[in-house]
Amino acid sequence: MDTAKSPLPPHVLVFPLPIQGHVNSMLKLAELLCLADLDVSFMVSDFSHTRLLRHTNIESRFSKYPGFRFQTISDGLPDDHPRAGEKIMDIMPSIKNVTGPLFKKMMEESGCLVAEGRRPVTCIIADGVLSFAGDLAEEKGIPLIYFRTVSACSFWACYCMEELIEADEIPVKGNGMDLLVTSVPGMDGFLRRRDLPGFCRVNDINEPKLQIIKSESRQTPRAQAAIVNSFEDLEGPIISHIRTQIPRLYPLGPLHAHLKSRLALKTNQPLKTDQSSSSSTGSFWEEDRTCVDWLNSQQPKSVIYVSFGSITVVTRGQLLEFWYGLVNSGQKFLWVMRPDSIAGKEGESQIPVELEEGTKARGFMVGWAPQEEVLDHPAIGGFFTHSGWNSTLESVYAGVPMICWPYFADQMINSRFVGEVWKLGLDMKDSCDRITIEKMVRELMEVRKDEYLERAGQMAALAKKSVSEGGSSYCNLDRMVEYIRSLIV
Ligand code: UDX
Repeated sequence: MDTAKSPLPPHVLVFPLPIQGHVNSMLKLAELLCLADLDVSFMVSDFSHTRLLRHTNIESRFSKYPGFRFQTISDGLPDDHPRAGEKIMDIMPSIKNVTGPLFKKMMEESGCLVAEGRRPVTCIIADGVLSFAGDLAEEKGIPLIYFRTVSACSFWACYCMEELIEADEIPVKGNGMDLLVTSVPGMDGFLRRRDLPGFCRVNDINEPKLQIIKSESRQTPRAQAAIVNSFEDLEGPIISHIRTQIPRLYPLGPLHAHLKSRLALKTNQPLKTDQSSSSSTGSFWEEDRTCVDWLNSQQPKSVIYVSFGSITVVTRGQLLEFWYGLVNSGQKFLWVMRPDSIAGKEGESQIPVELEEGTKARGFMVGWAPQEEVLDHPAIGGFFTHSGWNSTLESVYAGVPMICWPYFADQMINSRFVGEVWKLGLDMKDSCDRITIEKMVRELMEVRKDEYLERAGQMAALAKKSVSEGGSSYCNLDRMVEYIRSLIV
């Protein structure tokens, strides 16, 4: 990359929606930009910043990049807001009404974050759901790139919401759930209404969550370019559809793997999968590493990893169904049970003794795991996931087949693609009973184990190729950095 064009490098402001699944992928992008010798300001909520400082080595990790700075801002929610379950959607109006004006003020008072030895911001890379960042960019004449943290398929379905509404395919409700969708180009013949992003499950098209996602998705083309955390071999056909609306589209994923790959190239080290090479930089919870010791004592491909990400909240009834299904499957399991992931009060119901015994014999539980490392561990043979996009990509890259139990949002469509398009696992959407769970776990870990592992291995090889030197995501990143540099000449 040519750095001779200017004495001071471009200054990129990276601004995620301040929730776990968005912050961690955008932090990885920020580090990739640092590796390309760009100056980066990373805008994060005070709440997220405190969590990062408390639970990660973020400060020391970024201290080696002199061009990197954190900027903090309020997300407008009180500190004791749960920021989990459906309540997470409260962040959308709050970020728009509180953070938006604060951001504008901060940019105006600081001369767009100018500082000694640092240009004012020359390019904004904002989360695709932050339309106020687009308003500011337009007002100040700063080039804008939108980052869509969800899958290309989810973004494209949300982009087509107007057409879906016109065709009466949403709102999704009642007994039309299994009808095939016809208004999303590229998804004919396999996408059912129940697979549309969870925001479409409303009673009325005027419900705020549908309206917000519809308008935020449709405004993406106002940016000069967009990024998706995906790769051509996984979502090529959908990426081509998006390019009809957003020609300058950079698929850079899987970003966690892309970062590992660039770090290994920079230090001339082979790619490793142990802790020292983990790209994990953005956890909001303390990682419990005892699970890695437990995995070290397990047979290859014998353990199913169970984790539902940072937002999912299950009822006590659902919890028991999962638990019985896992124990009755007779498989070993490693289960992440986040402290805030179960609805109701602690100790409200008794855990049946057979579950405790089954867990003692075959299971291990933690509050938060080093997930990338866990998925890369040789003992892991399957992933019971909520189909969050980061988790899905991490599983794809590690070659681990999935059982999908989507909770909300983009997860509904991700799970359909995993099961029906990529054939990387089973979609358990809209059911949660112990018999189905037991059957699916056996199916994935025993009955069709070889078939799924083979398919997952093939996709993992393509993911690795995409982020290796000369691969599609690798070249797209180089192109994007060139583009960002070209903006200041
Ligand atoms: C949210 C949305 O729910 C998701 O659908 C969207 O795609 C991104 O934002 P989240 O629910 O947290 O994210 O899911 P996911 O995208 O999978 O992100 C979770 C992240 O937390 C992953 O990177 C995963 O590695 C990490 N994680 C999870 C851990 O590090 N440890 C854990 O124990 C669990």
